[in-house]
Amino acid sequence: MTQALVLLGATGDLARRMLWPSLLHLDADGLLPKALGLIGVARHDETEASFKASLEAALSGREGVDNGVIARFMGRIRYLPCDVTKPEGAVALAKAMGPVEQLTYFFALSPSLYAAACTNLKAAGLIVDSTRLVLEKPIGRDLASSKAINAAVAAVAKEEQIFRIDHYLGKETVQNLIALRFANTLFEPLWTNRTIDHVQITIAETEGIGDRWPYYDEYGALRDMVQNHMLQLLCLVAMEPPSDLDPDAVRSEKVKVLRSLRPFTQASAQQHSVRGQYMAGNVGGKPVTAYLDEVGRATGTETFVALRCEIDNWRWAGVPFFLRTGKRMAERRTQIVIQFKPVPHSIFQGAGSQDLSPNRLVIDLQPDEDISLSLMNKRPGLDHGGMRLQNMPLSLSLASSYGGENGRRRIAYERLLLDVFRGDRTLFVRRDEVEQAWTFVDGLEKAWLEAQMTPKPYLAGSWGPSGAFGLTERSGRQWLD
Ligand code: BG6
Repeated sequence: MTQALVLLGATGDLARRMLWPSLLHLDADGLLPKALGLIGVARHDETEASFKASLEAALSGREGVDNGVIARFMGRIRYLPCDVTKPEGAVALAKAMGPVEQLTYFFALSPSLYAAACTNLKAAGLIVDSTRLVLEKPIGRDLASSKAINAAVAAVAKEEQIFRIDHYLGKETVQNLIALRFANTLFEPLWTNRTIDHVQITIAETEGIGDRWPYYDEYGALRDMVQNHMLQLLCLVAMEPPSDLDPDAVRSEKVKVLRSLRPFTQASAQQHSVRGQYMAGNVGGKPVTAYLDEVGRATGTETFVALRCEIDNWRWAGVPFFLRTGKRMAERRTQIVIQFKPVPHSIFQGAGSQDLSPNRLVIDLQPDEDISLSLMNKRPGLDHGGMRLQNMPLSLSLASSYGGENGRRRIAYERLLLDVFRGDRTLFVRRDEVEQAWTFVDGLEKAWLEAQMTPKPYLAGSWGPSGAFGLTERSGRQWLD
């Protein structure tokens, strides 16, 4: 075999829901390297035939995929039951796999197993200079454990061989944010504390934790969402223009933002952060149970976080970045709001003046992909006593702008897997970036402990604890709900 992707954790949730379907769609679109073999590795002692039969059943019926494509795709796959966290498992894998010229591993395992797997694969001769390692988040649970994982991986591979996934970076609209900022002259001069009042980043989900609680209860919303997805979005909004799209140029700018984030103290955490945990309630008209009941015991893990962050640099001094994320919220919504300042002086008198509202750029990532800029407009018609003004959106919806060309909404992993095969690390997270994000998160976690801030209950199906509203309202601002 000349080229292979080895999927460690081939029967797990991530592989089933995201990785196999993404690979299938890439194959359907002719984007997988021709000679690429796909090797599923897991501890399940099942035969290749039964693994492939259940995979094929799970993959059939996907949009744009016919039987011919499925047959070709299944032809690429082998299944090898091995436990690479044990030295003998890696030796068995080497024997069963035979020689491969270009190997890529996707670690869809619990991160606590990364170090052992790396050491054993290296000892079995299965990691060489050309090997690529794709690591799924979370890289650690705090800075110390993250450093330990990164060090174990660095002992077997160079940083250029390592692809740390944050699947948000594979989302179409997240990449579009880079285009919006750096392919238009319009926004960049306005992208500062002189014209921007504040920024909001929301990732709201309607799902609860369900079966994932053994993982989630150890991490909570801060480590599961803020440390990675939310801080990545914040970085892309706040970073300086990179010199080009070279992976290190982009990533160095993101690290600079993370380094400029003002650390939380006990006092600022009390004032500028909110932790919540959902109680029973109603989501989409259906009754749902409390987080505590899903876990089955008392737990102090948060399922909601809201923060007022400050970025201490010239561009952003004095511009709050409001972040919030939660499970079992009123609706599914991932959104970035850039709220501009009001005009410095209104020339509109009477009724028109009351209608005047500051411009706002809203970037919707989910469920719709849309960029919308609100502008003030004169309402047509004849009025007594001055002009009537109206806030009108200028909207760029991906669905309506690109229609069929935009086609099926891609799984974020498709973009990322393609970039792994191309060896492009721009949309992957560098070691110092992960560690800097953990430094910020550890600081907040410590501040919560010192301030004894336990999660406040909120009703499932709401927008979180009341404190989250206070966070913005205290400075006369409001979440865009
Ligand atoms: C994952 C988190 O990284 O992202 C999950 O572990 C979360 O808890 C998911 O639900 C959200 O991803 P998306 O793409 O559905 O917004």
